[in-house]
Amino acid sequence: MKISVIGTGYVGLVTGTCLAEIGNDITCVDKDHKKIENLKNGILPIYEAHLEDMLIRNIGENRLHFTTSVEDAVRHATIIFIAVGTPSHENGDIDMSQVDEVAGEIGKSLDAYKIIVNKSTVPVGSVKRVAEIIQRHLKREVEFDVISNPEFLREGSAVLDTFQGDRIVIGSTSKKATKILHDLYRPLKQKIFTTDPESAELIKYASNAFLATKISFINEIANICEKTGANVNEVAKGMGLDKRIGEKFLNAGIGFGGACFPKDVKGLIKIGEKLNYDFRIIRETLQVNEEQKMKPIMILDNLFPDLRGVQITVLGLTFKPDTDDIREAPSLDIINELHKRGAKIKAYDPIAIENAKRVLKLPIHYFHEAYDAIAGSDAVLLLTEWKEFKELNVRKIRSLMNRRVFIDGRNIFEAKAMRAKGFEYYGIGIDN
Ligand code: UGA
Repeated sequence: MKISVIGTGYVGLVTGTCLAEIGNDITCVDKDHKKIENLKNGILPIYEAHLEDMLIRNIGENRLHFTTSVEDAVRHATIIFIAVGTPSHENGDIDMSQVDEVAGEIGKSLDAYKIIVNKSTVPVGSVKRVAEIIQRHLKREVEFDVISNPEFLREGSAVLDTFQGDRIVIGSTSKKATKILHDLYRPLKQKIFTTDPESAELIKYASNAFLATKISFINEIANICEKTGANVNEVAKGMGLDKRIGEKFLNAGIGFGGACFPKDVKGLIKIGEKLNYDFRIIRETLQVNEEQKMKPIMILDNLFPDLRGVQITVLGLTFKPDTDDIREAPSLDIINELHKRGAKIKAYDPIAIENAKRVLKLPIHYFHEAYDAIAGSDAVLLLTEWKEFKELNVRKIRSLMNRRVFIDGRNIFEAKAMRAKGFEYYGIGIDN
């Protein structure tokens, strides 16, 4: 099928490349000329496992094209995905300006029947909103359908998720559009759930807010564990054996970050506010998360009467492993707090150092190797569960440190073993 994807962010690029991989003819559009030039040469703006190889292969096999012209892309395609950014305003409202602008441009260029797919995470009612904008900009009477098809990919495993996802959700009022979308997705052999547009739009917010709540829930259980001598890892295992609860997303830690959970939870609170509905549970989900991020600081405060001049090493800057994304990462708040308290900060991350330098305008000493960052430290804060951290030689770490405080914000080490090796070890939700 001929498809265009407008917006070459993380969602647009993964969608475009994966749909090319299953044999479609894809044109990706972005108004950023430099980005488009780079993409034509196989250079990605993000790090995502398997994406680069797939991108280069599909460009080579002439299934994946790039342009800055929305008009060309609209003409080229039967299906047009809108995958532009929908960031949060300061007050949590969703900024729809990019979607609105693209909808207007699609309207102006529409020359025959097309399906416009809202892939970006957008408030309930956006299918209607996009349809109205397109209608207003049409130069002549043309038939079109707008549908909702929210994205459920995770950063770090986006390509895998596309091919092995749990479900594809389609929100549509048009039989014709629904059939074409089913044909498009059939090769992925996944459950396709078709519903009305409003429900599809809400499924996205509800899913992310539910998962975020699961995390805040286990983090509160972790806090109770610390006060009772229970171990949150054991509690989570025991809970997860109940299939209704499930074992996934019960890893206690320093809270959730990223471009999605914080934004979508705030977005759903706003959706509620606009309807005069106070969504209490997810307000607390967010509040618990804010406090949880500060756990390492609370532990340090108990150990050091004054953090001024204390040498702290931060291991892991990204909001999760296998990505270079540091948006809303707990590390940012933690490092800002350390800086305020006068600590000396050293940091290491396998791939996100350049991103961190752009965002954190603080005197941080960055290293390209974990052991170098640890040498001479009074305390190590492990903030992201990168696989290479699990493989670190802890005896070597011990020998390199000054004072041996190890705060494991993702519970990747065994407390007993770490303490036996001479560390002042602190995890989350274990007997501290
Ligand atoms: C999330 C959802 O999982 C995807 O389904 C959704 O498509 C995506 O948002 C989106 O809306 O685009 P993502 O943000 O990439 O995906 O990453 P997750 O793996 O969900 O992790 C989010 C955060 O939760 C991370 O900071 C992670 O450390 C934290 N987390 C996750 C925990 O603290 N504990 C857990 O048990 C799981």
